[in-house]
Amino acid sequence: MELFLDTASVKEIRSMWEAGILDGVTTNPTLVAKEGRRFEDVLREICALGIPSVSAEVVATDTDGMLREGRHLREFHPSIYVKVPMTPAGLAATKTLAKEGTRVNMTLVFSANQALLAAKVGAAYVSPFIGRLDDQGQDGMDLVRDILGIYRNYRFPTKVLVASVRHPVHVLEAAKAGADIATMPYAVMEKLVQHPLTTLGLERFLKDWEKVPKA
Ligand code: E4P
Repeated sequence: MELFLDTASVKEIRSMWEAGILDGVTTNPTLVAKEGRRFEDVLREICALGIPSVSAEVVATDTDGMLREGRHLREFHPSIYVKVPMTPAGLAATKTLAKEGTRVNMTLVFSANQALLAAKVGAAYVSPFIGRLDDQGQDGMDLVRDILGIYRNYRFPTKVLVASVRHPVHVLEAAKAGADIATMPYAVMEKLVQHPLTTLGLERFLKDWEKVPKA
């Protein structure tokens, strides 16, 4: 399973990239706004790190506008995946962009039928938002399992990118279900690495090592 960071913070991305555990990055307008910097400046710095998959979202709501923004983003850098919202205009734009060879990440997906449509128009990724579903009292992981089953039935090549991840159990469940990708905040990715028994075990090994005669 690929692990993506869900952030527009170049500092956070650089840190996980250097740790060697990062496969990609997803951004959205909210995450970009938090940085207080021009979108293209942020995007340029992220792409310059060599991240192979960087999702950047269109903000137009009509098909023509989405196509214009999507084509511009595609030309921006070869690592870019264009994020398009799951709307009728978004489906039409995705169909055209996919035919042109642009990799589209269909976002704001909350039902298996929406995911079916994303695959049919040729999206490279589909992003079910599991945390937001959990917040509504619906099990987001059920949606992920449904989508994986449907894609398996028809051998759709669209990858399932589990988004709106809130904690490490979401990552674990996504991996057990066989999701292709999980995108998560920096704090969640940090928690994947840490375990109190690892910390304690290392402390004890280092303490005991002091007792070993060195000469
Ligand atoms: C990523 O592609 C999504 O935009 C993101 O995971 C949404 O997360 P949120 O529900 O925590 O805002």
